[in-house]
Amino acid sequence: MRIKTIKWLLLGIATIIGTLLLAVVVSLAATDCGNRNLVSPVIEHKIDSLLHELTLEEKIALLHANAKFSSAGVARLGIPELKYTDGPYGIREEMKRHSWQPARITTDSATYFPTGTALAATWNPELAYLYGAALGSEARARRKDVLLGPAINLIRMPLNGRNFEFLSEDPYLNARLSVAYINGVQCQDVAACVKHFVLNNQERHRSEINVTLDERALRELYLPPFKAAVIEGHVYTVMTAYNKFQNAWCSENIFLLNEILKKEWGFQGFVVSDWAGTHSTYEAALAGLDVEMGTEREYDSNYFARPLLAAVETGRIDPAIIDDKARRVLRVMFACKTTDTDKRSYGARNTPGHSKTVYDVAAESIVLLKNTGGLLPLRAEHVQKIAVIGDNAVRKHASGGFGAGVKAKYEITPLAALKQKLGDIVHIEFTQGYRKQSAIHFRQGIQRETNDNPDIFLINKAAEVAASVDVALVFVGLNHDYDTEALDRENLILPYEQDRLVKTVAAANPKTVVIIIAGSPVDVNEINRSAPAVIWGWLNGSEAGKAITDVLFGDINPSGKMPFTLPVDLEHSPAHALDTYPGQHMCVEYKEGILVGYRWYETKKIEPAYCFGYGLSYTSFHYLNCETDKQLYHIGDTIQVKIQLQNTGDLTGAETVQLYVHKPESSVLRPAKELKAFQKIMLQPGETNAVTLWLSASDLAFWDVTTNNWKLEPGEYKLMLGSSSMDIRFSKDIIIE
Ligand code: BGC
Repeated sequence: MRIKTIKWLLLGIATIIGTLLLAVVVSLAATDCGNRNLVSPVIEHKIDSLLHELTLEEKIALLHANAKFSSAGVARLGIPELKYTDGPYGIREEMKRHSWQPARITTDSATYFPTGTALAATWNPELAYLYGAALGSEARARRKDVLLGPAINLIRMPLNGRNFEFLSEDPYLNARLSVAYINGVQCQDVAACVKHFVLNNQERHRSEINVTLDERALRELYLPPFKAAVIEGHVYTVMTAYNKFQNAWCSENIFLLNEILKKEWGFQGFVVSDWAGTHSTYEAALAGLDVEMGTEREYDSNYFARPLLAAVETGRIDPAIIDDKARRVLRVMFACKTTDTDKRSYGARNTPGHSKTVYDVAAESIVLLKNTGGLLPLRAEHVQKIAVIGDNAVRKHASGGFGAGVKAKYEITPLAALKQKLGDIVHIEFTQGYRKQSAIHFRQGIQRETNDNPDIFLINKAAEVAASVDVALVFVGLNHDYDTEALDRENLILPYEQDRLVKTVAAANPKTVVIIIAGSPVDVNEINRSAPAVIWGWLNGSEAGKAITDVLFGDINPSGKMPFTLPVDLEHSPAHALDTYPGQHMCVEYKEGILVGYRWYETKKIEPAYCFGYGLSYTSFHYLNCETDKQLYHIGDTIQVKIQLQNTGDLTGAETVQLYVHKPESSVLRPAKELKAFQKIMLQPGETNAVTLWLSASDLAFWDVTTNNWKLEPGEYKLMLGSSSMDIRFSKDIIIE
């Protein structure tokens, strides 16, 4: 009897401890792992003594590559090499030390995470934190110190080959997710590296192009994600962009690096060049670049190697500048505990936990674009035969796309997942539908060769199969010949005449669901015309197939929202409408200014195919009782906006409530809508819950080019609360005094 009592007691204690631990884990997951300021009196003191001991040569060795993905340490003082890795959505396979060739080892497989736009489509910073934490843990397991991500350039232009790596066309959504991602990574004792600072918004001519734009657009759109990464995310490192800004390379741009990043924002970590993106010794060193990586020359002759030493020795560069750079590198090393391995996170890779995070992100990212007649979700008991059509049903997307590619331990394709889920109950017939008819070549530079001749035999076969089944699932979209670094696309049309396939299949079977697998905007006109149900499935990581299958069959209720606009026509999008892409004479002027993405479509009243923030659910939501805490606000105030959200359907589901603002009367052009807050909330059928959003009055300011400062104009502002940028359910007017 007594033994039993003790057993129960122990069990009780264990449960309490377990619950407490869970609470700690959950609260960490939701927020942060504590203070990660790079600067503290103790650390600075330690660095002072080290700088005293280091020779000039040793300091300079810290400032440039000694291999493709590392910079030197100082063995005699126990300072290890600093090891870098790509990339934003998975730890890149191991490369040979001095070349871009894979090392071909067997211990470098990694979890493949959903790419940037997929993460953004979750609108869920808590998931972004878990994503970063899992990525950081994999980086540690591979003994890396600096993770070259997140890639947070704004999606300015739909054809950018790298959009899939980036997050959004909106700086606020971008910032919320990247700050959480950075927190996750850095809590694993790995430095995140936000890239590419800044204005790397097209791949075409990226290594030569000079970007010009007015400072207002720079301040209001392109800088805020980086500013949030530094000020809120305490990011340890920043990578410069390849391009120029106002005629100066970003890697030697005094205004960007010294004035804004280091002085204005107080960045205390180090600035690293993009690989082979350094162009000088003196200018770069003085402008604020700290570390040079990737230059295709003997390391010793890198700009920041012997030439830097010579510049100091001849008195051209003050040794204090070298000390500052070395200090920044050492700060990051200490913050990541590189010299204190006993205390450092050990990391783990390919764990079930990481797979779960990948699945959760993928599941929450999937966007239901269209669902006529409630065709979805499908019910396994109501379908006997389904057709699975299209190359993207069987294609794996982990590798490719250049630096960001991942040697995935595994990747579940849609067809594999469908078979796994339905194999015994439903007859599945796969047919190819279209073939990938493209390849990337490295002949004279990087080129894509493609063939868009439709394979009529495959299309007819697909239509025949579709006609014989209950439901046809057509997996179309892009692959890494298109969603890729170094090359933009030529247009938005789906390659290999996939539109023709969609049209033919949908004509053969009215129950056709189209699933778009792509990381960047594509032309969806034909898909919209032909298919009753459309889903955006992204490049969605190791668990991609499973997540899409679970959405199709209703185990997951879709809750993703588009992080970018899908235009009806490429020419409607701002950079193309104003003929500012790819620029002339290696110069591109961002003539659209602050009207990027939905800011443009809303202000110019151009109807897109699907707007920013759009996404349906299998349930429905009702917005009730919108109110603000006051009507009159002053600078420094917080504005509180509250609504009741009700799930009016039969299924549990999540909605993202979005808050946009507009100033009707202003001394300058104000976009018709600007996202200032959002909140994702899960509700049971019939459940009603309050959603509270906050913004500060200063979030309503604009960048005044006449005073070179933020200006909060007094007067009336419109707050708009809705389910997407176009679906506004409540408007409230407030006054700023
Ligand atoms: C890319 C970076 C990447 C680096 C190292 C560059 O080409 O622009 O994003 O981190 O290569 O692979």
